[in-house]
Amino acid sequence: MSIPTPPPRPAGAVRGASGRGGPFAPLDPAAVRGISRLAQSEVYRAGISGARPRVPVDPVALEAAAQKALSPEAFAYISGGAGAERTVAANRAAFERWQVWPRPLRDVSARDLSIDFLGARRPTPLLLAPLGVMEMAHPEADLAVARAAASLGIPYTLSNQASFSMEAVRDAAPTGSRLFQLYWSASDDLNASLLRRAEASGCEAIVVTLDTHLLGWRRRDLDLAYLPFTRGLGIAQYTNDPVFVELVRERVARSADAPAARVRVTRKTIAAGLSIARKGGVLTGEGLRASLRSPLPRAAIETFLDVFSTPALTWDDLAKAREWTNLPIILKGIVHPDDASRAIDAGVDGVWVSNHGGRQIDQSVPTLDALPGVVERVGGRVPVVFDSGVRGGADAVIALALGATAVAIGRPYSYGLAVAGEAGVREVLRNVLAELDITLGLAGCTSIPDLDRETLRSA
Ligand code: FNR
Repeated sequence: MSIPTPPPRPAGAVRGASGRGGPFAPLDPAAVRGISRLAQSEVYRAGISGARPRVPVDPVALEAAAQKALSPEAFAYISGGAGAERTVAANRAAFERWQVWPRPLRDVSARDLSIDFLGARRPTPLLLAPLGVMEMAHPEADLAVARAAASLGIPYTLSNQASFSMEAVRDAAPTGSRLFQLYWSASDDLNASLLRRAEASGCEAIVVTLDTHLLGWRRRDLDLAYLPFTRGLGIAQYTNDPVFVELVRERVARSADAPAARVRVTRKTIAAGLSIARKGGVLTGEGLRASLRSPLPRAAIETFLDVFSTPALTWDDLAKAREWTNLPIILKGIVHPDDASRAIDAGVDGVWVSNHGGRQIDQSVPTLDALPGVVERVGGRVPVVFDSGVRGGADAVIALALGATAVAIGRPYSYGLAVAGEAGVREVLRNVLAELDITLGLAGCTSIPDLDRETLRSA
């Protein structure tokens, strides 16, 4: 079954960040021009008086700094992967198989990092991948990330498992460009409601993640017996949703638990119950256990665990998404070229090559190896977003040269968030952009469309 085409949008008009559906005003590409010179000069000048970057530039040191800032549970959840984490390693190793050809003596003094994506000019070729449960990294979580992304004109994909509602994120960074990522719930009413809210709060597209219909076998989390959702973390999109609240109300009403039947179930009482539960035990401990046994937080968490995903989802179901929204639909988790063809046949507006950063299948196909095949099948008909393993600007250059339209940053920005909040996210993104800009110029290119297979040599 194919997804019917939505009504045409006026050229260049993308649903506005204001949520009122007006044209989205992209940040001037000039705002990131010269970012590499600025970054280097800032770091080296500060170095004269002995200051070193608080947020390490080297991605391995960045991860180590984040580990120091995070609880063992949070670090395991964020950095870990499925099984023996062979896919995590393979995602990185795939970059070793490509080399950039340096091409000097071409005037590269003026470089432009902008791209066209979803009907608008974007100042950079980066997106932020959806990362759930960022409250584990920093109390301001998605709000801090949204502000940092907006300051650089980078579209931010809000996770379905965010720590703040999409409306709160809009209010925190109203000029920022946002996409909403959906985990297809077992409740269609909930799916429809989430997409309605995404549209009303000014998201520019829906990203449907397809690779998490079962939660990956994550050994680090299992050994710590820790899954954030069971502690009431990362479910703010749900607890702020009227359909979800109704589902909780129905569960409480059905409950044989006598005290539960007396609880008034509203967004506010659910939020208050969860907040008390979290504060009660600093994420672990008896206080938390006791509060999570109390009826309302428990009902909310159990309802979430019931509806979170459906392994029964098929291509045919996707058509429903078009009934629920007029926004462009991007499928995240496409790795096989045949699925890319199928996505195009289904009429989607974009594909996102991802293996969830190696968090789902151990010893899976590294996404960079899959990218060229997907790009070939897509044949320029829709944008191809790429993620999994990007750690710096040179990685982004390789993915763009292999045909990605845009490159999504994942774990590194959460490490920046853990180390220094909003400023940390901004610094990580600035560093990726600076290295990208420098690598582009040293490869003899002045714009993102200049990057192609000729830029690369297979190692
Ligand atoms: C994720 N990812 C993810 N994906 C998604 O579609 N919805 C989500 O809520 C999350 N949550 C999430 C949390 C954490 C802690 C991580 C590390 C990842 C996957 C994410 O969007 C992206 O695909 C990967 O992070 C890319 O891999 P790298 O580059 O981070 O290794």
